[in-house]
Amino acid sequence: MKVLICPDAARASDRVAGMIVERLARAPRTVLGLATGGTMEAVYERLIAAHRAGRVSFAGAQSFNLDEYVGLPPDHPLSYRHYMQAHLFDRVDFAASATHLPLGDAGDPGAEAARYEAAIVAAGDIGLQLLGLGANGHIGFNEPTSSLSSLTRVKTLTRQTREANARFFPDPAQVPRFAITMGIGTILRADEVVLLAMGAGKAEAAARMIEGPLSAACPASALQFHRQATIVLDEAAAARLSLRDYYEDVHPEGGPAPM
Ligand code: F6R
Repeated sequence: MKVLICPDAARASDRVAGMIVERLARAPRTVLGLATGGTMEAVYERLIAAHRAGRVSFAGAQSFNLDEYVGLPPDHPLSYRHYMQAHLFDRVDFAASATHLPLGDAGDPGAEAARYEAAIVAAGDIGLQLLGLGANGHIGFNEPTSSLSSLTRVKTLTRQTREANARFFPDPAQVPRFAITMGIGTILRADEVVLLAMGAGKAEAAARMIEGPLSAACPASALQFHRQATIVLDEAAAARLSLRDYYEDVHPEGGPAPM
């Protein structure tokens, strides 16, 4: 695991956006694994700026998002499809047919999950997977006690996750109870994984992910198994790491600015 501690949230977002820009420059046909949520908004803003400046193109790439709420159709303003169109897809040059999310309103969500997993395999698996981190240690919507070898399936969201995501909904009671999410096994098949976590609310989960025991109680700890996982943190999210001096010694200030 490579642990990059950046001085602040802006530089952490720069670092992650820069890794995606570099990857697409090297391999324009990369299959990207994408995430939603508050953390990713700054990353997508930077990718849009880089695209407008002619520094990155998504025209040859494909994308698969981690997850989608069960019950929300793609055009629902709180669906993750809607989020992705608004925050990235409509503002860069992805081909319309190249972006994939599970269908939240599929008649049979279990069958939709299996279809989505098969589509990822058919695309040759994810090249670069972008991840956020739940305060409870989830990645995607793999909540604590998720199987560490799980594939895409329907998961019941924890109360903590529903409360955390209630900020996006006009009425907290509207936060869906179920989601279709890539599994931890799906995520671990990616060539490269980049996880971004920022803010004090993520500090405990970040320490459990990086330095805690490998355990389904902290699904993100499964990344300890991945051969090419980079964890990008701001100072606040790094506050509970006990080997922090070591990480900062190896990559001062999170390494060189990439963009
Ligand atoms: C979103 C996702 C989640 C979020 C995580 C952090 O597609 O899969 O795992 O990355 O819940 O969310 P924020 O960034 O809103 O704190």
